[in-house]
Amino acid sequence: MDAIRVRGQSTPLKGKVRISGAKNAALPILCATLLSEGESKLRNVPALRDIDTTAALLRFLGRDVKVDAPIVTVGPGTVKPEAPYELVKQMRASVLVLGPLVARYGRAKVSLPGGCAIGARPVDQHLKGLEALGCTIRLERGYVIAEGPNGGGRLKGAEVYFDMPTVGGTENVMMAAALAKGRTTLVNCAREPEIEELGRILNKMGAEVDGAGTDVIHVKGADDLHPFDHAIIPDRIEAGTYMIAAALHEGSDVLLEGAELDDLEALSVKMRAAGMTITKEDALMRVQRKGPIRGVNVTTAPHPGFPTDMQAQFMMMMCLARGESVISETIFENRFMHVPELQRMGASVVLRGNSAVVQGVPKLYGASVMATDLRASASLVLAGLVADEETEVRRVYHLDRGYEHIEDKLRGLGANIERVKGVEG
Ligand code: UD1
Repeated sequence: MDAIRVRGQSTPLKGKVRISGAKNAALPILCATLLSEGESKLRNVPALRDIDTTAALLRFLGRDVKVDAPIVTVGPGTVKPEAPYELVKQMRASVLVLGPLVARYGRAKVSLPGGCAIGARPVDQHLKGLEALGCTIRLERGYVIAEGPNGGGRLKGAEVYFDMPTVGGTENVMMAAALAKGRTTLVNCAREPEIEELGRILNKMGAEVDGAGTDVIHVKGADDLHPFDHAIIPDRIEAGTYMIAAALHEGSDVLLEGAELDDLEALSVKMRAAGMTITKEDALMRVQRKGPIRGVNVTTAPHPGFPTDMQAQFMMMMCLARGESVISETIFENRFMHVPELQRMGASVVLRGNSAVVQGVPKLYGASVMATDLRASASLVLAGLVADEETEVRRVYHLDRGYEHIEDKLRGLGANIERVKGVEG
């Protein structure tokens, strides 16, 4: 198994890093290719394990997929609308094929994604939304079996109310509504930029989507949708992670190329409160640290609130702050798996329910660490940048799900970091 080895340093990070395309935009958009015949092209796609998993799933379903980063081409094929457990279990977002498949083929059998390292993560809201559009849903032996009205007919537009803003739920039902007859109104939607991006795609395909990125989305379905050619938006979570990297050493001065400051508002506000200077310079975002890190409290919330996907990395930065900070996680239970590993590196963190109380320490110590989710792993790599001596982050396949060439990008900023092969997991 691969590991990442980082030698902590006292010298600041400097230079420019290019932000890759957004994983969480690419995944639903790849699933949206199932809504049409013909060849769709997605550009600016990062080379990541989750992209390969989605490509494998689309191939299994019957489409002809070519991954040649940064371009993924999804060609035609005869689709059998069944997604097996072996593929879905590798990545929860696989459940996003359900809406497109049942809308297009009148029937779909998709494995339930099962539990996940960061909590139970049910899909009840996805299913409730599809039922409102006329699907009959059965759960059988770990599979969701969805059927259109009257034994596989076309879905019908309806009003759908989500009990909580769910990113995947909003996306799944939006995609199904794009081929449904008539108008669908989705209420209490998630407002992430990736949902706005999916709305752009569905419009390019011929549906009429209005309000994506707000809490009420209207979708007028089309009889047929066409393929598309589209370059996806930058990955705001990858950008956020490099913003934190730029905050760990006094004197760091990092330019992010391609990052959208508007999509990172909540994080930027908190980073400025922690003492960072964040400016926009033409197409670049500049992050500078000129003084000590100040302790700042953070509570995760649905977009535009503070992203849960940045909680672990922000907490890592707070481990070195002057004073105390309280980090509260409201989206996922069990999303503090980085805490025991950060503690092993010398961090002072006490867990109280869904909050972590962090007392800044002057220094962290290098260690062998591992994490069982993507963003937790990223926080450990960040910790390695400032810890003394060497940190070895194991089980790098989590990082490879979501960070394109992280070791090369950090090395480009002056970090002492390498990937090593054949390390015990
Ligand atoms: C997406 C992101 C993930 C991010 C998360 C929250 C992708 C591929 N993944 O995950 O990186 O951490 O948004 O920003 O885009 N819930 C239910 N019932 C449902 C659906 C969700 O109870 O049917 C709950 C979840 O358990 C969770 C909350 O709603 O507590 C938000 O989850 P959701 O927004 O659906 O997350 P994902 O789409 O899985």
